[in-house]
Amino acid sequence: MSFWKNSKNKFIALAPMEDVTDTVFREIVLGISEPGTLNVVFAEFTSVDGLCHPIGKDKVSHRLLISETERELLNSSNVKIIAQIWGSDPEKFARAAKIINDEYNFDGIDINMGCPVKKIVKQASCSELIKYPELAKEIILATQEASKIPVSVKTRTGIKVHETENWISNLLEVNPEVITLHCRTQKMMSDFPAEWNEIEKAVNVRNSLNKDTLIIGNGDVVSLDECYEKINQYNIDGVMVGRGIFKNPWLFNKEQTYKSPEEKLTLLWKHVKLYADTWTNEKSFAIMRRFLKIYTYDFYGASEIRAGMMESMNPEDVKHILSNLRMYDMKFLFE
Ligand SMILES: Cc1cc2nc3c(=O)[nH]c(=O)nc-3n(C[C@H](O)[C@H](O)[C@H](O)COP(=O)(O)O)c2cc1C
Repeated sequence: MSFWKNSKNKFIALAPMEDVTDTVFREIVLGISEPGTLNVVFAEFTSVDGLCHPIGKDKVSHRLLISETERELLNSSNVKIIAQIWGSDPEKFARAAKIINDEYNFDGIDINMGCPVKKIVKQASCSELIKYPELAKEIILATQEASKIPVSVKTRTGIKVHETENWISNLLEVNPEVITLHCRTQKMMSDFPAEWNEIEKAVNVRNSLNKDTLIIGNGDVVSLDECYEKINQYNIDGVMVGRGIFKNPWLFNKEQTYKSPEEKLTLLWKHVKLYADTWTNEKSFAIMRRFLKIYTYDFYGASEIRAGMMESMNPEDVKHILSNLRMYDMKFLFE
């Protein structure tokens, strides 16, 4: 039986986020999360076209990297890790699923049917598949057939307007292990408030069709308490948190204790160092820099430090800023 169905627990998941939830950031989050709270993490979405191409594979494989330290943290805190793939050709999904099964160490494969970005949906992929329900089912079936690990789907509620009942019942025909529903349409991008009553509709459809696919809700959740509230209120099997982690990297802890500026800046430096050590060629420092702001908030002088960080070009620049702060003595980091 798949781990999804084997567990009586509700699932609290960290969302897949491109250029964010790589092995480095997952290691940072896992390292400060309370065991037993967070129980599933997702890798960034990976193109099946890339994965099935001899040269493309080298370019995308960093998205599927699980570092040794991350693996140890996953094992010690019993957190599952899911690879996520996207594309439009069922045959390539099958080949990609086989590659992930044979060459990597993931606990599940998720199919992205939610990304609304123009250059992606132009290729009849991701959320655009809501327009092609038969193709969407073919993709799921092809992936299921090729994979020994469980197959789930992450999707939205519609293209321009919510069509939750129709779309979810279509997906349920092929029994994905889980449907994670981001309760916005393609058109809403992430610009409008999430509409959780759509999650309720999905649960009702699942129940009325008597299916055992799990439903995980996603959209605008910013605390662990809110995860538990949503699970109870909507009778769902779990909650996925995305951008909430930017507001609080320590989100996956039941007790929320005060984090001093020094603690935040220490974690920032750990992230910078790990990023630089892990991604020597694969990723530029500019990608990392955008996310430094998650550690420089809510304390005296934070905005000034943040502004300096946004100009940094490399870890040395960050070290220089941290060593020369007027208000906080961070030199101990470099002794
Ligand atoms: C920077 C960024 C990158 C994202 N990349 C992915 C991705 O690779 N795969 C995916 O399914 N969703 C992706 N998403 C969507 C999130 O997984 C999530 O569904 C969305 O942010 C809504 O949840 P939230 O309101 O908790 O942030 C991304 C979102 C952000 C902000």
